[in-house]
Amino acid sequence: MIDIHNHLLPGIDDGPRDMDGTLAMARVAVDEGITRMVCTPHLLPGAVPEPARIAALVDETRAALAEADIPLRIDTGAEIALDVAFALDDAALRAYSLAGNGTWLLLEMPFEGWPLGLPAFLGDLEMRGFRAVLAHPERARSVQLQPDRVRDLVGRGALCQVTAEAFTGAFGKIVAQTARGLMGNGLAHVLASDAHSATRRPPGLRAALDECAGRAGVEPETLRWMVTDGPRAILDGGDVRPPRLGVPPPRERVAPPRPAKGGPKPGRPPRPGRPPRPRQTSR
Ligand SMILES: [Fe+2]
Repeated sequence: MIDIHNHLLPGIDDGPRDMDGTLAMARVAVDEGITRMVCTPHLLPGAVPEPARIAALVDETRAALAEADIPLRIDTGAEIALDVAFALDDAALRAYSLAGNGTWLLLEMPFEGWPLGLPAFLGDLEMRGFRAVLAHPERARSVQLQPDRVRDLVGRGALCQVTAEAFTGAFGKIVAQTARGLMGNGLAHVLASDAHSATRRPPGLRAALDECAGRAGVEPETLRWMVTDGPRAILDGGDVRPPRLGVPPPRERVAPPRPAKGGPKPGRPPRPGRPPRPRQTSR
C-alpha cells in the first residue's frame, strides 16, 4: 500500500521530534502493509520549510531506514495550506509536488470556513499544469455542513484524500459521517494516514479499508485502488481516472406482476383501512 499523506520526517513539523520517532512510525507502517510513503510536512503561513530542507531530511531518513533494515520507500512532498499555495510560483509548487513529479500537489482543506478562492484556484492550477489532491475534506467544517460543495471541486479536477482514521471514528461522529458520505457519493478517491507518530495517529490504512468495505458491503479488495493503484497513478504524475468507488450498484428493477385478465388495473393498492374510491360514472 502507498500512503501519500503523513508527517514521517523528524523535527520539521508536529510529527516525530527525532529519527527514533520516525523509525518507530516506519516500523508500524511496514507492519500495516505500507511499502511506500510520501513525506508531506506542513507548509503553513509563517512556517514554510525550504524544499532543500525536506529533500535533505528525506535523504537522511532513507539512510536511517536502510541502516535499521526497514523496507520502506519514501519520497518528498508537502501538505500545502491554501494561503501558502496561493502565493507560491510554479517553480516552488513543482518543488513541493508529491514525489517531486511536478504535477500533483497536496492542498490542505482549511478546518474552518469555506475557501472562496479555491474553485478558481483549481482552474488556475490546471492552466499552469498542476493538479490537486485535497487533504481531508471530511474534517473541514464547511464540508461537514454542506458535503455537496465538494462536487464542484471534484468537477474541477481535484481528487479527495480522506484520512483513514476518519472512518474508524477517531475524529468523532461528524467527521466519520462526512467521510462515509463522501465515500458513498464517490467523492473519496484516496485513503491516507496523515500519521503524526507511532502511537498518536499511527500510519495505518487497513482498519479504515475494512471499515469502508464493511459498510459498503463489498470486499476490502474492491477498495484497494484507494491505497494502491490510485496513489501510484498520482505519484506517476499523469492523468488519474478513479473508478466509481463506494457507490452501491443500482438496484435491480423487478417488474411488477401482471394482473390477471379482467382483474383490476395495476397501480397503487388502496391504503389499508380505507375503502377504494367509487368509480366516477359518465353522465
Ligand atoms: Fe497532515
